[in-house]
Formats: sequence, structure tokens, C-alpha cells
Amino acid sequence: MHLENQKIVVTGAAGLVGSQLTADLVEENDVRAVDDLSKGAREAVPDKAQFVQADMLDPVAVDSVITETTDIVFHFAAHTDVRVDDPEAERRVFEENTKMTYNVVERMREVGCDHLAFTSSSTVYGEAPRPTPEGYGPLEPISIYGASKLSDEGVVSTFANSYGIQSWVFRFANIVGPRQRGNVIPDFIQKLQDDPEMLTILGNGKQEKSYLHVADCVEAIQYVVEHGQEDYNLYNLGSRTTTSVIGIADIVADVMDLDPAYEFTGGDRGWTGDVPKMRLDTDKLVDLGYDVPEESDAAVRRATEELYEELRS
Ligand SMILES: NC(=O)c1ccc[n+]([C@@H]2O[C@H](COP(=O)([O-])OP(=O)(O)OC[C@H]3O[C@@H](n4cnc5c(N)ncnc54)[C@H](O)[C@@H]3O)[C@@H](O)[C@H]2O)c1
Repeated sequence: MHLENQKIVVTGAAGLVGSQLTADLVEENDVRAVDDLSKGAREAVPDKAQFVQADMLDPVAVDSVITETTDIVFHFAAHTDVRVDDPEAERRVFEENTKMTYNVVERMREVGCDHLAFTSSSTVYGEAPRPTPEGYGPLEPISIYGASKLSDEGVVSTFANSYGIQSWVFRFANIVGPRQRGNVIPDFIQKLQDDPEMLTILGNGKQEKSYLHVADCVEAIQYVVEHGQEDYNLYNLGSRTTTSVIGIADIVADVMDLDPAYEFTGGDRGWTGDVPKMRLDTDKLVDLGYDVPEESDAAVRRATEELYEELRS
């Protein structure tokens, strides 16, 4: 699908990925940027977009933002906490993510909008061998967040295959960039601002994952939507290498010009449901003609510099 002169709805448009994508799309398209601001920031949404504060859990609100004239929906709104540690919070993550996605696709079917881009997650793979290709199975997520994304994928695939909504589904590695909060990089920066001598690291620090900068992420999303021709297009999105948690601590300390000691909470993972090692196979993206970024460390460093700039002021 050509992303020019389209009427586009982006949900989660005040969040990390949605706001960067909206900033790109508004140049050539008419973008309705939707967010309930439960986590995202209004100022992250570019002025050229039409901002609508709406809750995608509310079908009436969904009806008002997705209409007969909508050409494509980028459904990025989600409860994004992988790390939840009580049953009530887990129930909310599952219910909200699956309900929002169902509301969106049901409304799309109703009004005849037949193009959808959806953000899934590497967490659907659980502790799969690496690098993990899209065809890997059986999928055994180990967090409720991962389970909610796998359920969402099932709903999107159903609407793609049975109701003609052409879909592009992205299984993201860890996406990093400006304004991000509640992620390892801003956490380390804030901890080191509080105590420059000592950094407490969750787990043993050997957890090792692939990080991709949000600017590269939104470029890849647009490329895949423009070039993926199937009814249901499923793509991993990540860099080719990984960064360990100790590696992130080293980069953060370096950017902040500090030399802290590290202490570890112990165990091979940060929290229950944390997948300690993750690297996605990106050959399918390469086969589509996309030049996948090599370097996870470079993404972490760039995001650290941006976040430190924000958090020091
Ligand atoms: N960032 C990552 O590393 C990563 C990894 C895998 C998957 N994803 C997925 O990519 C998408 C974007 O992630 P992100 O990092 O930009 O997250 P984010 O938390 O920065 O953005 C999500 C946005 O959705 C909004 N939102 C939440 N509930 C809503 C509701 N009921 N109605 C309307 N808006 C609502 C929030 O206010 C927030 O602005 C999400 O679906 C996320 O699950 C992200």
C-alpha cells in the first residue's frame, strides 16, 4: 500500500512508536492521531496531525475515530507493561489489549476499512531458540503481555483471512528512543542520578536482547506496509545483534561520564515473565529488500544520549 494521500488513523499516537510514526506520516497523509494519554504525552503528537483523545476500550469512541473514509489503521495502542506482578494487573493487561484490538478490527469490518498495521511483540516466542524466525513454533509466551499479543495476532489473522482486512503484523524486539519511561535505559539513568556510585541491576545482568532505535523501527514499518503484498504479512523487527544488561549499564555510565559499581539482585532474569535472551531472525525483512540495522549497541547508545538529555534538565 502506498503511504501517500491516505486517510490514516494511528492509535497509541502519543506513545514512543506511534508519535514517531505519526511525525513521518503527516508529511504526505491526513493523520488522525488517537491516544487516551494514559501513558503517552500530548506534546509528543505533531501539530500537523489531528489529535483525538479517546479510549480504544470504548466502542463508541472507536466508532468516532475509525470511519467510512479511513484508508488504513495503525493500531499501536496497548498496555505495554511486560513486568506486572499481581493478578489484577495481569488481568487488566490481557483484557485491555485483546479488547482494544477486537474493537478496532470489528469497527474496521463494519465501515469497510481494509488495511491494518498491528504491533505484536517478540514476547510471543517465549524462550525460543535464537535467532527466532517468524515461522518458529509452537509459540509459548511466558508473560501475560506476550499472551495478549499472541491472542491479538489470532484476531488480526482471522479478520485478514476471513474478512479481507489486509494486515501487516510486526513482532518487535525492544524498541528504544526519546520520551520512553519504565524501560531499562531511563531506569538506569534515574538510578545513577540518585546514586552515581552504585547501580542495582535486576537479575544477573547477563540477560541479552536485541534493541532497535525507534527511528529505524518506524522506517521499517513504512517500508513493509508499502512492500508486503500478502493478505497477512508477518514480520520480525529488530537489529541483528544483542546487548546485555551489563552492556547497557556500561553504555549509560559512559554517556553520563560515571564509573559506578554494579550490584545484582540475582537470578537469570529480571522478573517473572522476563525472557532473558532474545534475538529475532530478520531474513524475511532482508528478502523483502529492507536493509536491517546491524547494531543493537548503537541503538542503545543513541537512545541513552537522547534520554539523558531529557532527564538531566
Ligand atoms: N517499545 C517496545 O519495545 C515494544 C516492543 C514490542 C511491542 N511493542 C508494541 O508496540 C506498540 C507501541 O509501543 P510503544 O513502545 O510506543 O508504547 P507506549 O506505551 O509508548 O505507547 C502506547 C500508547 O498507547 C496509549 N494507550 C494505552 N491504552 C490506550 C487506550 N485504551 N486507548 C487509547 N490509547 C491507549 C498510551 O497512552 C500510549 O501513549 C504497543 O502495541 C506495544 O505493545 C512495543
